[in-house]
Amino acid sequence: MTKTIAVLPGDGIGPEIMAEAVKVLDTLRTSFGLPVHLEEALVGGAAIDATGQPLPADTLALAKRADAVLLAAVGGPKWESLDISIRPEKGLLGLRSELGLFANLRPATVYPELIDASTLKPEVVEGLDILIVRELTGDIYFGHPRGVRTLENGERMGINSMVYSETEIKRIAHVAFQAASQRQQRLCSVDKANVLETTELWREVVTKVSKDYPKVTLNHMYVDNAAMQLVRYPKQFDVMVTTNLFGDILSDLASMLTGSIGMLPSASLDAQNKGMYEPIHGSAPDIAGQNVANPLATILSVAMMLRYTLQRSDLATLVEEAVHQVLRDGLRTKDIQGKGNYTVVGTREMGDAVVKVLREKR
Ligand code: IPM
Ligand code: MG
Repeated sequence: MTKTIAVLPGDGIGPEIMAEAVKVLDTLRTSFGLPVHLEEALVGGAAIDATGQPLPADTLALAKRADAVLLAAVGGPKWESLDISIRPEKGLLGLRSELGLFANLRPATVYPELIDASTLKPEVVEGLDILIVRELTGDIYFGHPRGVRTLENGERMGINSMVYSETEIKRIAHVAFQAASQRQQRLCSVDKANVLETTELWREVVTKVSKDYPKVTLNHMYVDNAAMQLVRYPKQFDVMVTTNLFGDILSDLASMLTGSIGMLPSASLDAQNKGMYEPIHGSAPDIAGQNVANPLATILSVAMMLRYTLQRSDLATLVEEAVHQVLRDGLRTKDIQGKGNYTVVGTREMGDAVVKVLREKR
């Protein structure tokens, strides 16, 4: 049966990197018989410009109807002065919550070809393979009360609330334990249980869930220490599970261990493994329209889609291999240039190179 994929390019470099991911999907369709049908829609700033809303009803309906969603990036200075309730980022957050995508998987893997692109010493990052499991529909991102209030004395006060129910913690803990079961059987749960009651509960519930996974070794770490440990000795980690906000911060940090945020894909899954797939980087408005953005994180997000939602791990591996191959061939976008003697190419050329390798593998 043909699967529908919602294609949401968004803003900034979004349309450019999405075009390359679409080339890859088209190649899988035409050369490998992957039964997919792509439908494009507006999200973020592009949607605000066209409709006044960051997540138009049509786009949400398509995302709900589709078997999977591929999103590039949203946001930019053009929309920063808008009220926070209708900024481009709300389009993304709306998709996450409306689709119930509570489990965000963010792998940080160091490609041997890119070791010299990392700012850390090669021996610190060589062979690194971490999976960050970030809770995605709770926490301070969605918690109430929120907003800015004016007090009786006229002073304004900003409020955001970190909120987690036991059910929310339990279901993300299960996802993390299951992931760890398939990997090196080690799970580190990151919280701030020394200060925040919400994460004291988090720690308690994660510990309880661990009883169902006797083979997985669980440890707990405060988020400040986790940030330090990620830079000091990142190879101690296998799977990390954490809250929405801590996961947002730690996954950006982890991306730089791998050389560039332009390399990291992600999957956001619901309880049935329906997913939205996106690079973890943003819309990089400063380099938009220049054909310099790295399309590989979006292409690798297609690989995650093949693996988790389309159940085609054979093709997922093929796409990942193709990415390795172009890097081995010495091709680099600007962000992963490193110190070596490489051929620096543009967004389109990088996408074309991946497609060429894929065709040769047919
Ligand atoms: C991410 C991004 C988003 C987030 C922004 C764009 C709302 O930083 O996916 O990590 O904070 O979750
Ligand atoms: Mg982020």
